[in-house]
Amino acid sequence: MAGAGAGLDVLVNNAGVSGRFVAPVDTTAADFVEVFGVNLLGPVRVTNTFLPLLRESADPRLVMVSSGMGSFAVTLDPDRIESTMHGLAYPSSKAALNMVTTMYAKSLPELSVVAVDPGYTATDLNARSGRQTVTEGTDAIVAACTAAGAPAMFFDRFGPVGW
Ligand SMILES: NC(=O)c1ccc[n+]([C@@H]2O[C@H](COP(=O)([O-])OP(=O)(O)OC[C@H]3O[C@@H](n4cnc5c(N)ncnc54)[C@H](OP(=O)(O)O)[C@@H]3O)[C@@H](O)[C@H]2O)c1
Repeated sequence: MAGAGAGLDVLVNNAGVSGRFVAPVDTTAADFVEVFGVNLLGPVRVTNTFLPLLRESADPRLVMVSSGMGSFAVTLDPDRIESTMHGLAYPSSKAALNMVTTMYAKSLPELSVVAVDPGYTATDLNARSGRQTVTEGTDAIVAACTAAGAPAMFFDRFGPVGW
């Protein structure tokens, strides 16, 4: 998003793929290559490309679209639907993206760097099985782009999310 001033104000790394829906033991290294290529290396490549422009902004924000599936806290919480979902490459890629987020945040104090969980949302990613509308799913992303301050380094539309 280009603002009134110089540079780039907000970069949202949103692109993501689920990969094949197979059990962890049936997941192959090739599955990891595909999913990590988009979900982890994609944000790193795009961030590296746009970082010089972000640094020109007066209020630069870097937003990683992560997932509750990348959270140890959420996937181990029996009250969360994510704890009933099994995978390997996708959750691992989002957990890795969360670590990339915290490391960027520490090394780029001049930027606001956050990870957001859209929540389980009806999109092509899950063949529209998600429980939230797309509008609900974008709430946390929009907040990360526009709110005066983030509620946490990792949050969803309801507030902070445990790592
Ligand atoms: N839906 C959920 O329940 C949910 C929950 C938590 C997190 N998320 C995350 O939210 C983000 C958006 O997902 P979504 O639910 O909106 O899924 P989606 O409807 O499948 O959209 C995925 C988007 O990623 C783009 N994309 C995929 N591979 C790409 C590549 N190699 N290069 C460039 N763009 C690529 C797609 O572009 P094209 O349309 O051009 O293919 C599409 O715009 C993802 O990071 C996902 O992991 C989703």
